[in-house]
Amino acid sequence: MTDSNPEERCGSDGDLALRTTLLPKDTNPAGTIFGGVILSLIDQAGEVAMRKINPHRRYVTIAMDSIKFIAPVFVGDLISLYTCKPEVGRTSVSVQVDVLVERRDRPGVEVIVTVAKVTYVAIGGDGKPIPVVG
Ligand SMILES: CC(C)(COP(=O)(O)OP(=O)(O)OC[C@H]1O[C@@H](n2cnc3c(N)ncnc32)[C@H](O)[C@@H]1OP(=O)(O)O)[C@@H](O)C(=O)NCCC(=O)NCCS
Repeated sequence: MTDSNPEERCGSDGDLALRTTLLPKDTNPAGTIFGGVILSLIDQAGEVAMRKINPHRRYVTIAMDSIKFIAPVFVGDLISLYTCKPEVGRTSVSVQVDVLVERRDRPGVEVIVTVAKVTYVAIGGDGKPIPVVG
């Protein structure tokens, strides 16, 4: 998977979907936050964005179209996930999710650590795709 076009990034101009900090239990052997934990946060942030598209739909993730871990995340970082540029298809919606952190020793300064594009599909009660809008 490749990085998204930098011009397509939301940064802190996007919609704030989630803000959290993580614990030592979330680290990898290198002592930084495990990528799978960040992926989980990205998926949750995208789901929050889907609620704004059509709150009456149930969505499942069909693809993480692109992801790039640009810089590490550390225990104690204030992690913010921003979403932008939703692209609404017939049954699917793709959205850009950017992860920014404020380091403990640099309050007030957010740096971008991960960028991703995620696609969700609206499903009906039978688990099959249904139109996002309508
Ligand atoms: C989501 C699911 C219901 C879609 O069923 P499907 O029959 O494969 O869907 P379709 O081929 O009709 O495609 C549905 C939409 O997804 C889009 N899509 C399909 N594959 C895609 C991919 N690799 N990347 C991005 N979009 C994709 C299609 O273009 C279509 O969008 P559109 O209607 O806006 O044009 C089915 O794949 C599924 O249940 N997957 C598991 C989802 C899940 O459990 N996710 C949680 C993680 S385990």
